[in-house]
Amino acid sequence: MGGGEKVLMSPALIGFALCLLLSCQCAFAVKSEEFRKCHEASFCRRNRAKEPGASTFALGGKLQQAAGGGLSGTVINKDFPGVELPLEISAYGDGIVRVKVTEVPEKKRFEVPDVLDEGLDSKKSPIVSARSSKDTWLTLGGNKLRILHDPFRIDAFVDGRPILSINGRGLFNFEHYREKPANISEEESGTWEEIFKSHTDSKPKGPASVAFDAAFINAEQLYGIPERATRLPLKPTKGLEGAESEPYRLFNLDVFEYVHESPFGLYGAVPMMMAHGAQGTAGLFFLNAAEMFIDVLAKAEHMIPGLEDKSRIDTHWIAESGIFDVFLLLGPTPKNVVQQYTTVTGKPVMPQLFSIAYHQCRWNYKDEADVNAVDAGFDEHDIPYDVLWLDIEHTDHKKYFTWDHSLFPHPKEMQNRIAAKGRKMVTIVDPHIKRDSGYYIHEEATAKGYYVKNKDGNDFEGWCWPGSSSYLDMLSPEVRDWWAEQYLLDKYKESTLTLYSWNDMNEPSVFNGPELTMPRDNLHYDGVEHRDLHNLNGLLFHKASVEGLLKRGKNNDRPFVLSRAFFAGTQRIGAIWTGDNTAEWTHLQVSVPMLLSLGVAGISFAGADVGGFFGNPEPDLLTRWYQVGAYYPFFRGHAHLDTKRREPWLFGEPYTTLIRDAIRTRYALLPYVYTVFYEAHKTGLPVMRPLWLEYPDEASTWALDESFLLGSDILVHPVVTKDAFQVSAFFPGKEPWYEVRTGAAHTGAAGKAITLPVTGLESFPAFQRGGSIIARKDRPRRSTTQMANDPYTLYIALNSTGAAEGLLYVDDGRSFDYEKEAYVLRRFTFQNGRLECSDAAPTGESAKGFALPNKIEKIVVMGLPKIAEKSSTFRAVLGDTDGKIQLESAVEPPVMGSGGDATALVIKRPWLSVAEDWSVQIVSS
Ligand code: GLC
Repeated sequence: MGGGEKVLMSPALIGFALCLLLSCQCAFAVKSEEFRKCHEASFCRRNRAKEPGASTFALGGKLQQAAGGGLSGTVINKDFPGVELPLEISAYGDGIVRVKVTEVPEKKRFEVPDVLDEGLDSKKSPIVSARSSKDTWLTLGGNKLRILHDPFRIDAFVDGRPILSINGRGLFNFEHYREKPANISEEESGTWEEIFKSHTDSKPKGPASVAFDAAFINAEQLYGIPERATRLPLKPTKGLEGAESEPYRLFNLDVFEYVHESPFGLYGAVPMMMAHGAQGTAGLFFLNAAEMFIDVLAKAEHMIPGLEDKSRIDTHWIAESGIFDVFLLLGPTPKNVVQQYTTVTGKPVMPQLFSIAYHQCRWNYKDEADVNAVDAGFDEHDIPYDVLWLDIEHTDHKKYFTWDHSLFPHPKEMQNRIAAKGRKMVTIVDPHIKRDSGYYIHEEATAKGYYVKNKDGNDFEGWCWPGSSSYLDMLSPEVRDWWAEQYLLDKYKESTLTLYSWNDMNEPSVFNGPELTMPRDNLHYDGVEHRDLHNLNGLLFHKASVEGLLKRGKNNDRPFVLSRAFFAGTQRIGAIWTGDNTAEWTHLQVSVPMLLSLGVAGISFAGADVGGFFGNPEPDLLTRWYQVGAYYPFFRGHAHLDTKRREPWLFGEPYTTLIRDAIRTRYALLPYVYTVFYEAHKTGLPVMRPLWLEYPDEASTWALDESFLLGSDILVHPVVTKDAFQVSAFFPGKEPWYEVRTGAAHTGAAGKAITLPVTGLESFPAFQRGGSIIARKDRPRRSTTQMANDPYTLYIALNSTGAAEGLLYVDDGRSFDYEKEAYVLRRFTFQNGRLECSDAAPTGESAKGFALPNKIEKIVVMGLPKIAEKSSTFRAVLGDTDGKIQLESAVEPPVMGSGGDATALVIKRPWLSVAEDWSVQIVSS
C-alpha cells in the first residue's frame, strides 16, 4: 500500500498524513485521478493521436552481415535528414527474432540491463534469401522475415503464413535526442517540461519516445502484459463503439486498494504479449523499462498493403524513452511462445521445497510471544505450515536489518526455536532507507554516495514508512554488491541461515512523489534518468537481495526473496505476489486471471494474499480463499495491520476443518507441485496454466480464465462466489477427469461446459487428468521437513485406453546440488494392467550423490472397469515373469470413486522403492 493524497507538504504535514494513513487506510479506494492517463502524458498523447499510414521511417541502406552475427543497417527518419539510427536484426534459434533500433553511440540511449538470460549469446544469423529494391527476405529454418524498405516494416511468416507485422500501420516512431528549440510550440508542449498535479518533470533530454504498431495476423485472443486486476484475454482499448478506454499502462506503482476489473497497471510490468487463434500462436516482447502504454484495437484499422485479406488484431505500443528492442516470438504453439520468451529472459528459479508450502504472514506478528503462540496454534490444530513472516513493525523504527528489541528481545533464539520444528522465518526488507544519522546503512550509503540523486545531483529524499528516506541506486553494480553484503550474518545482526527475505515497496513507493513514486528526472548511476529504468527498479532491488542470500549461503541454499515489484526476467530471481488485494469475493475471483496472466508472461512463482489484505473476510470467503490458494504457485495468508486476527483456527467449525483440509491438500500434492516447478525451471512453462495452453486447438478454452490447470494434470474449477451451489466446468480433451477428493470421473461435453453441483463449503471441484500418474504424500505433518522420509501414494488416473503416465522429480529440496545432477527423476507408466517405474533422467544424469529412500505405501488406480464385486480375484504381482513377491491380499477395490462408471482399485502397502526399477502386474486369478 502507499499514501493517499499526493501534494507537496512540509515534513510535519507529511508525518501527520502518514499517521492518518496508517490508521484509516481502509476508508480510501484507488483514486484514478491520482494516476496519469495517456492524455496527461505528452509522449502518449503525441503517439496515440498519430494517423496510421504516414510513416516517415525507412531503411537507410543495404542490410549487412554484422560482425557478432546477425545483420546490421540503419533506419532513417525522412523528416529529419541526417539522423541515422543503427539497426540490428538477429535470431536466437529459428523461433526468435530480435530487431533493435537505437541511436549512434555519441547520443547514448539507455539499454535495459539484467533482463536477458545470460545464456542468450548464441546469435544465429538469419540468412538473406532474396533482395529487391523494395524488400529484403530473411530465412530462419522454416520461418521467414520480410523487411520492407520504405516505409520500414517487418513481416514475419511461419510456414508461409504471415503472423506478425510491425509498422504495417506506419506508427513506428523513434524520437531521436535533439537540441532544445528556442521556442516550444503548442504542439510540443510537455516535451521539455511537464507538470502533473503539483509535480514538475524537468525533462532535460526532451522528447525521446519510442513507439510502433504490431498487427497479429489471424489472431483471435491476446494475453499477457501483466500486472492488472482484470480478465486474462485482453479487451480492446480503442476503436470501441461509444466510450474509448484508457490504453493499458505499464508503470510500476504502489496502487492503493486496487479495484478488480480494471486495466490499470499495478506493481509490476512485463511488456510481453501473446496472440492466439486457430492458425497458431505468436508473441512479442518489447525490452524497454520506461513508462509504456499499449492500445489494443477493437477492429483492424487501415489497410496493410499485402495483408488486405487477413483478419488481425492491431496493437500500438508507446514508451516514453529507451530504445526499440523487440523480440518476435514465432511460436507456433502457446507452449513454444512461452519457451521462446523464457529463452530470452530466463527460466524460472527452482525454489526450495519449503517455499512452495504454506506461509503465514500478518502485518504484524507483534512480538515473540505472538510468534510463539501462532506457531503453537498450528500444531495444536494439526495444520501444517512452513514459514512465519514478520512485517515492518519488527524493526527498530523501520530501519531494515534491525530489530525492535522491546518486542523481539531474542531474535536469534526465536528463529532457532521455529527452525527446530523444521520451519523458517521471513523478515521484510524494504528499499527506502531511513535518513537517520545513527543508522549504519544510511551513514554508509551517504558516505559512499550510493543513493539515487535528484535532478540537481543531491541525494533524493522522499517519504515512506520510516518518514524521510533515501533510495539506494541499484543500477550501480557496486551498490548492489554492497547491499548484498548487508545480508551476511555478521552484518544483519541476530539473523540466522533459516531467515529469508521479503522486498516490498520497490516500485519504488514514494508517498510524496509523483503518482506515489520517484520523479522521472531523478538520476541513477552513469547519469541514467529514472524515467528510463522505472519498471526495472523492483527487479534490480530484488536481484541484489537474492545475491545477498547467495553470499550469505555457506550452506549452498537456494535463496528465497518475495518481491512486490517485478519486470521481465523476474522469474529468474524469485517469487512475487499481487500486492494489496481486498477481502472481497471479486478479489478472490480476479486472483486467478491475474496469476494466469503472470504465468503466460514467464512469471510462475506468484500468489495472491489469501484472505485478502484489506478488510475482514467472512469465514466462508476465507475458507474458499484457502481452497483456491492451495493451488496457487505461491501460497501465503496475509492481512493488514487494522484487520481482525484470522489465523486458520479462529473461526471455529466447520471452517477450521475445511481450512485444514485445504492446506493439507496442498501438502499432499507437494511432490507433484515440486515436479511441476522443476518442469517450469527447465522449460519456462508456467506452474499455473490457462486451459488453452494445454489445449490450444479447443476454441472454447480461449476465453476461460476462471478455471485453471496446475501443471498439465490437475484441473481446478474454483468456487469463487458466495453460497455457490454449482460451478460451470469445462473438461478439455477427450479423456476423463477424476475428482481429486472422490475419484468420480467426468468427461468433456463436445466443447461445452457442464454444470457441476457444489454441495457445500467442503465441495471444491479439482480433478486429475485421465492418463496421468501423480505421486502424493498423504500423511499429514507439521511442515515439509517432517515429510522428507514419508512414503508416497501413487494416484493412477487411467485414460480411455486404460493407460497413464507421470513423472516424479525429487532432490534435497534445498541446495544447488541438483545442478550437479544430485536429483532423481522417475517415470511411472501404466498399461495393460502393468505399472512400471523407471529412470526418466537424461542418461547418466540423475542421483549423483542423492539417495531417495522413500517407498510407495499405496497405489490407487482410478478408471478400471467395474470390478467391485470381483475384488478378491485381483492380485498385484511384483516382477516381470517369476512373480516372486505377490501382493495378493493388498488389493482392495473400491475405496473411492464408486460414482460414475469408474472404480478405484487400491494396492495397499506394496513398499516398493521409488528409486529402483520395477514393475507390478495386476492379474486376476
Ligand atoms: C505494503 C505491502 C503489504 C505490507 C505493508 C506493510 O502495503 O503490500 O503486504 O503488509 O506494506 O509492510
